[in-house]
Amino acid sequence: MIFAGIVAGGSGTRIKNADKPKQFIEIGGVPILIRTIRAFEEIGEIERIYVGINPDWYDYADKLLEEFDISTKRVRLVTGGKDRNGTVMNILREVTALFGINKGDVLITHDAVRPFVSEKIIRENIETAMKTAACGTYIPSDDTVIRTTDGMTVTENLPRKQLMRAQTPQTFEISTLCECIRKLGDKKLSMLTDTCGILTECGYPIHIVQGEPMNFKITTDHDLMIAGLMAMSERQ
Ligand code: CTP
Repeated sequence: MIFAGIVAGGSGTRIKNADKPKQFIEIGGVPILIRTIRAFEEIGEIERIYVGINPDWYDYADKLLEEFDISTKRVRLVTGGKDRNGTVMNILREVTALFGINKGDVLITHDAVRPFVSEKIIRENIETAMKTAACGTYIPSDDTVIRTTDGMTVTENLPRKQLMRAQTPQTFEISTLCECIRKLGDKKLSMLTDTCGILTECGYPIHIVQGEPMNFKITTDHDLMIAGLMAMSERQ
């Protein structure tokens, strides 16, 4: 079975003057979170879509699902964690408590604030994780990336051809992810901030699915403005 986990438990502090976390802000009349949920609803093979929400915003999100006619048969809310990985872990616990840990089951995790994820990216993630144990979505870096140790001068120019920027989804074969979590134990796990890191730590390669520029993360006011323009152009 295939499960989706949309992480929407953050507070969006880098967006200034917003009265709600960024995932609830409307672009083109539709909240960002609803747009992201709809992208996953389109994929019929996904059994359930779990959405991790900060407990303070749980009731708000619940009402939003109703208002935008999201089927609660397929889409379920889960309490978010204290960081992104914590939210993924809560979703994983919910999936395995209800459906067990079965070889071949897959969890595709995605940031709520990447509403323009394409069907191609979602499908390639699912197919790749089914064949391997884990994959993530990455896009080549157009800009040269440098390393600096003091924030004022360039310490090193990094080889651009070897560098990619990470997007989401990140997708995992559930029994492998659970095995790694068990192996690492709570102390090591608490030091890992990224879900892919859990598998890397256990020696599993993370396969690369090609990302797309449109699949950007809405992080700042500038991103929000671009997302608004993209939503407007959909209607023309
Ligand atoms: N996220 C989550 N649970 C948390 C923290 C983050 O599910 N405890 C989610 C966010 O809702 C978002 C994704 O992780 O969909 C990517 O994180 P980021 O862009 O950093 O979101 P925020 O933490 O909300 O933003 P900021 O760092 O600006 O506060």
